[in-house]
Amino acid sequence: MKPWKRIVIITLAGSAAIATISGAIVVYSGIYDVSATRQHTAAVYHLLETSLRRSVEMRTSDTPAPALDDADRIHRGFALFRANCVQCHGAPGIAPKPFALGLTPAPASLLDSVKVWSAAEIHWIIKYGIKMSGMPAWKYRLTDEEIWDVVAFMKVLPAFSPADYRRWAVRQARQPASPTAPIRPHQVVRAGDIKAGKQALQQYLCITCHVIPDVVGADHHVGPSLAGIANRKYIAGVLPNTPANMLRWIRDPTEVDPLTAMPDLDVSDQDARDIAAFLYTLRDD
Ligand code: HEC
Ligand code: HEC
Repeated sequence: MKPWKRIVIITLAGSAAIATISGAIVVYSGIYDVSATRQHTAAVYHLLETSLRRSVEMRTSDTPAPALDDADRIHRGFALFRANCVQCHGAPGIAPKPFALGLTPAPASLLDSVKVWSAAEIHWIIKYGIKMSGMPAWKYRLTDEEIWDVVAFMKVLPAFSPADYRRWAVRQARQPASPTAPIRPHQVVRAGDIKAGKQALQQYLCITCHVIPDVVGADHHVGPSLAGIANRKYIAGVLPNTPANMLRWIRDPTEVDPLTAMPDLDVSDQDARDIAAFLYTLRDD
C-alpha cells in the first residue's frame, strides 16, 4: 500500500473512532439535558430541523394534491382543525392549551408552515407525524380525505383574522352535525396484515402495557406478556381464544370484562384485524 493511502485510512479510522467515543461519552455520561424546559443546543436543533426537512422532502415528491379550494372541503377542514390541532398549534387570536406550551420543540404557528411546506408535504406531516417531537401521526385517526380537508383549511388560515376565526367557530357550534368526531371506524378493506398490525401496536399504545416479542419498546409489564398468545386457550382468562374473540377483546375489552384495566382504545375494525393477524404469529414453540 502506498504511504499516502495508509495515512488517509489511518486518519479516517481515527476520526471515526473519536466521533464514536465522543458520542458515547455524551450519551452514557448523562451530560445531555433532556428536560423540556431547556431548548436543544443550537447544533442539535439545526440537526433536527435539517433531518425533518430532508426526510419530508424525500418522501413526498410525487404525491399529487386534490383541488383544495373547494368551500365544503375548507369548512370540513376547519371543524377537524378545531377538534384536533388548535389545542397545540393555536390559531389567530387563540393560544394553545397550557400542556402544549410545555412541549419542546414548541408546536409551530401553522400560519408560517403553509408558506414553508407544499400541500403534499403538509399532508405527509399530518399523516405520519414527527418522531421525537409532540406531533402525532393522524393516519389511524383521520382518513386521507380528511387530512386533505385540514390542509385546505390551513391554506386559507393565514388570511383569517381573529374575528373571522371566532365567527366560523360560532357558526360551527350552531351545526351540531358537523364532522368533528376525531375517531371514525375505518372500513375493512382487506384481510388482516401482519406487518400493518405490528405497526398499529404502537399507534394504539399496546406497547406501553405489554411485553411483545420483536416489537421495539414493548417491554412493559402493566398487562400480561403477549409472548405465545397464539397458543393460549383463553384470552384474558375469560374468552376462548378464537380469532373472532380476539377482535372483540382488542376493540372492546371493557364490554367483555367491565373491570379490566385494559382500556377501550377505539381500534378500528381493520386495524384490529391487522393486530390480531400479528398476535397470532406469537407462538410458544
Ligand atoms: C400534541 C400537540 C400537537 C397536536 C395535537 C398537533 N400537533 Fe402539529 N406539531 C406539534 C409539534 C410539537 C410539532 C413539531 C414542532 C414544529 O415543527 O412545529 C408539530 C409540527 C407540525 C407541522 C410542521 C410545522 C413546521 O412548520 O415545521 C405541521 C404542518 C403540523 N404540526 C400540523 C398539525 C395539524 C394539522 C394538526 C391537527 C390535525 C396537528 N399538527 C396537531 C404538536 C402537535
Ligand atoms: C393501559 C394498559 C394497556 C394497554 C394500552 C393495552 N392493554 Fe392489553 N391488557 C392490559 C391488561 C391489564 C390486561 C389483562 C386484562 C385482564 O386480564 O383483565 C390486558 C390483556 C390483553 C390481552 C389478553 C392477554 C392474555 O394473556 O390473555 C391481549 C391479547 C391484549 N391485552 C392485547 C392488547 C392490544 C392488542 C392492545 C393495543 C390495541 C392492548 N392490549 C393495549 C393492559 C393494556
